[in-house]
Amino acid sequence: MKQIQNAADLQQAVREAKDKGRQIGLVPTMGALHEGHLSLIERAMKENDLVVVSLFVNPIQFNNKEDLEKYPRTLEADLDLIKSLESRVKNEAKATEVLAFSPSVAEMYPDGEPTEIVYHFGPVEEVMEGPRRPGHFNGVAVVVRRLFDLAQPTRAYFGEKDYQQIAIIRALLEQIKYPIELVPCPIVRADDGLALSSRNKRLSPAARQMAPAINATLEQAAEMAEYEEVDDVKEWVLDTLASWHEVHDCGEGLQFEPEYFEIVDARTLQPIATWDEAGDLGAVGCIAVWLDGVRLIDIVKF
Ligand code: PAJ
Repeated sequence: MKQIQNAADLQQAVREAKDKGRQIGLVPTMGALHEGHLSLIERAMKENDLVVVSLFVNPIQFNNKEDLEKYPRTLEADLDLIKSLESRVKNEAKATEVLAFSPSVAEMYPDGEPTEIVYHFGPVEEVMEGPRRPGHFNGVAVVVRRLFDLAQPTRAYFGEKDYQQIAIIRALLEQIKYPIELVPCPIVRADDGLALSSRNKRLSPAARQMAPAINATLEQAAEMAEYEEVDDVKEWVLDTLASWHEVHDCGEGLQFEPEYFEIVDARTLQPIATWDEAGDLGAVGCIAVWLDGVRLIDIVKF
């Protein structure tokens, strides 16, 4: 692994790799790496000659200043995790090199924060996270495009945990027409089913014990979908979580506060009224739930 902090150094390394006909895999992250991120890096290492992992807490995608300040920054530990992953997958990896790109804000945005760049992605950004986190997806698109320009990847890897983000990147690629293959990767979960997230560390022990109920409820919903209508499944998920504390001994006055649960077409992200409405990628259920002051998201495929 080689750490790179300057855009010019990354461009130089990319140019050399391209000259040798090498395929580049890009894994954008905000650091605070866990096994979810590592699964993306591992896959990129198996499918490309050179892997670029970006570690950059992107200020312009945070619509809440406090969230940006609270975001964990663990660069040294992240670099160690990448190095141990390298030795773990050495024998199966195609990639001979991993570049960890950890630029400063000034390096990423030399002309200041690019507030003038405004993307329009249409219906995929008008649902779920879009209206609830104004400016978030624009900030994601701006930084991802900058990373695409610097790393010129053959493939770019994104986790299905942030399902809507994948749809946004797909729309971005259609707009800018870069020949980059978007590779969606499955969610990595803890043994008890909770989707790994850097936010899980903010949960109290009691809340952490309760949190796997989100995935468990979604899994049950997937079974119900075989014989229940869309609206009934939706209502059941929301009711089950909202009343969880009445039925279970949660302690500390904890309770789930679902923000939304939508059952949508997996490509367009538009809500469906019947299972038949889902197109080629099928249907997916996306949820955002508050627990113990922490906002957790998860998905289930139907
Ligand atoms: P971050 O939250 O660091 O996530 C980086 C990538 O890891 C995303 O594609 C995310 O979906 C994936 N990921 C996170 N948890 C995962 C899990 N449990 N299983 C599988 N994949 C998981 O998403 C971002 O950063 C930023 O928005 C970014 C794309 C880097 C732009 O700043």
